[in-house]
Amino acid sequence: MKVADIRRTFLKFYESKGHTIVASSPVVPGNDPTLLFTNAGMNQFKDVYLGFDHRPYKRATTSQKCIRAGGKHNDLDNVGYTARHHTFFEMLGNFSFGDYFKKDAIHFAWELLTEHFHLPPEKLWVTVYAEDQEAYDIWHKEVGIPADRIVRIGDNKGARYMSDNFWMMGDTGPCGPCSEIFYDHGPSVQGGPPGSPEEDGDRYMEIWNLVFMQFYRDEKGEMHKLPRPSIDTGMGLERIATVLQGVHSNYDIDLFKNLLAAAKAAVESVSTVPADINSPSLKVIADHIRACAFCVADGVLPGNEGRAYVLRRICRRALRHGYKLGARGPFFYKLVDAVRKEMGEAYPELMNHEIEKVIEAEERRFLQTLSKGMDILDAAIAENKTGVLPGDVVFKLHDTYG
Ligand code: GLY
Repeated sequence: MKVADIRRTFLKFYESKGHTIVASSPVVPGNDPTLLFTNAGMNQFKDVYLGFDHRPYKRATTSQKCIRAGGKHNDLDNVGYTARHHTFFEMLGNFSFGDYFKKDAIHFAWELLTEHFHLPPEKLWVTVYAEDQEAYDIWHKEVGIPADRIVRIGDNKGARYMSDNFWMMGDTGPCGPCSEIFYDHGPSVQGGPPGSPEEDGDRYMEIWNLVFMQFYRDEKGEMHKLPRPSIDTGMGLERIATVLQGVHSNYDIDLFKNLLAAAKAAVESVSTVPADINSPSLKVIADHIRACAFCVADGVLPGNEGRAYVLRRICRRALRHGYKLGARGPFFYKLVDAVRKEMGEAYPELMNHEIEKVIEAEERRFLQTLSKGMDILDAAIAENKTGVLPGDVVFKLHDTYG
């Protein structure tokens, strides 16, 4: 299944279960000062969970544009160096606003994964919040997952390892215990089951998070019950695509293979050396063009504050990696068309050709200072014997050379 087929299958499945297909909200959250960028499918429904907003539906499903490059969920520095972190990604989700709860959420997820995506049940593991016996029993007694593939995990106040099974949108907002579904890539891949000391390996990959929304966390950290228990789920489209396409890295799925090829061609169009298709720098570029194109499409312009500054940082990080690969002229803006080709059908806002113009202008502006800054950095590294760059050099590179 190609990425576009997976997206369509997910939405149609939930539509057949009485959910309304709702368009993705913009990457800039409307009317929510607590968020820099939309970071999850449930953001556009925050007020519905809280009981302040009422919709003509009680069940919804979306493929949501998300950016995790600032604020509570910030993956920027990992991008390019891991198989699965992205600044921009799509999150598939189904939502119940005081309608169905744990039982249906779990059964729907299992049906989709095993009967429509045809994943072998024995490859799937689940985690539940340590005290959530109800979710445990649904997985074990009703779905039939053996006890040795169900892991109980506490929230991060008590857990020994990185995992936690209590999902929060941010420091404040709707939240609740969750149950995650993992796919086991098999013993040829390193890593241990969720909750084990080796859980950070790539063998067991989280594909879906089912959140049982029950609380609102306020500024003081106090929890208040939501008007009605609700459901919010999030499945990374790129991750489920790796599983369904039988690959281990998000960069090997059809969409990213095409973006990487386009990135290589664009870099080489302004370079005298070939760009290695496997280099982390090319992955950074292929990732970052999506974040930049969608930010601009949704009205963010590069600047010096807030989300405008995050956009500028993402754009400059891509350009620095292009420079590392040998690019000496503008290349990044040329990739907007490749993003459009891959995703324009699902997201018509990409059809706006101003996007290229904004990115090209930012690119030209930065190129002037980048090569000077890189010369200063290279000279400082060459001269330096201690392994620690002097603070004044670092400050100058940041402050004057961006
Ligand atoms: N809202 C669920 C998640 O982002 O995992």
